[in-house]
Amino acid sequence: MQTTLPGADALIRRFSFRPLTRADLPLLHDWVARPHWTEWWGEAPSLAEVEAEYGPWIDDPRQVQPHIALLDGEPFAYIQSYVAMGSGGGWWEDETDPGVRGIDQSIADAAQLGRGLGTAMVKAFVAKLFADPRVTHIQTDPDPRNARAIRCYEKAGFRATGEVQTPDGTALLMICRRPAPP
Ligand SMILES: CC(C)(COP(=O)(O)OP(=O)(O)OC[C@H]1O[C@@H](n2cnc3c(N)ncnc32)[C@H](O)[C@@H]1OP(=O)(O)O)[C@@H](O)C(=O)NCCC(=O)NCCS
Repeated sequence: MQTTLPGADALIRRFSFRPLTRADLPLLHDWVARPHWTEWWGEAPSLAEVEAEYGPWIDDPRQVQPHIALLDGEPFAYIQSYVAMGSGGGWWEDETDPGVRGIDQSIADAAQLGRGLGTAMVKAFVAKLFADPRVTHIQTDPDPRNARAIRCYEKAGFRATGEVQTPDGTALLMICRRPAPP
């Protein structure tokens, strides 16, 4: 059984989330070029490529909802949710449940990795998503070799269901079910 350590709830409450804006794209461009991002997110894109990828989601967030995660009000990470069904591009083609959301995230500053902050951030974002009663469960799909991310998601309440093939290659599909009502 997962236990909540003293102070864990206080840490979770220090996180907030705001929608990504076009004014954030130079900052995001800087973040995605950092080695701890390129290790898992691939080659660093140009600013024009960042604008081409994230701009449409900023303008129309119905499928993908990009966010900046804030810790004590300061930019801390990029985090996005998406509606799995209808993703297109070969993603989640068998999904028929419109209530399934997915999440992807990376912490901006390498010095902040491995300190429990990612787990608290993911817990805070999951709680925000489950506040929408239409959301049935939340998935995430780390690279099976990304042991740090997998451990983080386990601690945040996700369970591995098996490997899946995605347009980005083999991924470990992990699911967080909606908590039972008290
Ligand atoms: C993935 C990410 C968001 C997790 O956040 P985080 O703050 O680093 O994670 P946490 O500190 O909360 O938890 C990490 C856990 O993994 C463990 N861990 C760290 N490195 C590990 C490794 N190489 N192998 C196994 N476990 C490892 C830590 O010990 C910790 O577990 P513990 O608390 O049981 O000791 C963050 O590491 C990140 O942004 N990474 C860079 C980009 C990335 O991988 N993004 C995710 C793509 S799916």
